[in-house]
Amino acid sequence: MALIDSFGRAIRYLRVSVTDRCNLQCDYCRPAGEPILPTHEQLLTLEEIARLGRIFVGLGIDRIRLTGGEPLLRRNLVTLVGNLAAIPGLHELSLTTNALLLDRFALALRQAGLQRVNISLDTLDPATFFRITQGGDVLRVLAGIEAAVAAGLHPVKINMVVMRGVNDHEIPNMIAFAVQHGLVLRFIETMPVGRAGLNSAERYVSADEIVALARAGDGQEWIPVLHPKEQGSGPARYFRIPGSMAEVGIISARSRHFCDTCNRMRLTSRGELVLCLGGMDQVDLKTSMRGGATDAELAALILDAVLRKPQRHHFELGADSGSAWNMSGLGG
Ligand code: 5AD
Repeated sequence: MALIDSFGRAIRYLRVSVTDRCNLQCDYCRPAGEPILPTHEQLLTLEEIARLGRIFVGLGIDRIRLTGGEPLLRRNLVTLVGNLAAIPGLHELSLTTNALLLDRFALALRQAGLQRVNISLDTLDPATFFRITQGGDVLRVLAGIEAAVAAGLHPVKINMVVMRGVNDHEIPNMIAFAVQHGLVLRFIETMPVGRAGLNSAERYVSADEIVALARAGDGQEWIPVLHPKEQGSGPARYFRIPGSMAEVGIISARSRHFCDTCNRMRLTSRGELVLCLGGMDQVDLKTSMRGGATDAELAALILDAVLRKPQRHHFELGADSGSAWNMSGLGG
């Protein structure tokens, strides 16, 4: 069983935003003054999320990633993790977080059935981190990373959005840090998503340039690696750094889009199913659910929605071609 879109792609991966709130305010993700938070009434309850999770898995979704906003700000997230992890047929449950609160929750999340985490960390420099996040303490993130590793959440992946003039000089340092701690580092090209993404054009560093900047640090050729598990499931291209077991990934949403192998959809905290990060099309599942729709009726809505998934995004055309979503409301 799989959800197949109108371009023949099998959709097996669902990202679920559990809150729009965040305890950081990275300017490329969450513009000043935003988001307009959903009211308590608008927010899906944890029971509603778990119910939709079961319906999606019944339709062939086998990976779920919880995201936000900052998902650890959602009360009783550990309970939700337990309920989702218990769904038969779900092979992987993961979480994207800024890790500020992770030292408190890592073990409980692992015990509830969470398998792994992706942690957003653009810099190791406390002053730069403070500036990018508008007030964040990088030491909290480092404590969170340590707790994730200690709890056995494996692999721990680090997402670094590379920005010209902001953190592009830190690429070699970040690689050394990842090697030292056994983390999988992924470099991400900035994307023109949301108002906050508008400055992404001037800060944009292409994947090719990221590789060049990294080599300036170690001078060695990277060896491309193909993970059977990653093939078709994730957009990163992976490389091994010679002389170490460390691997780094590059996510080049712009310079080399991977829409052909897109396997995902996104559910907002308000219960809308978003078909593509690069477009505004969405299907409201919550209203139907609260109006008394049965599981079968909701499944039919989802099947219809999948057929509306567009062929590709058009980020490469410039800022105007991005979507009006803010990442802070959609979780990347
Ligand atoms: N471009 C690229 N990546 C972004 N993220 C958030 N906003 C953007 C953007 N405009 C990343 C975060 C996080 C992931 C979920 O998405 O750094 O790691």
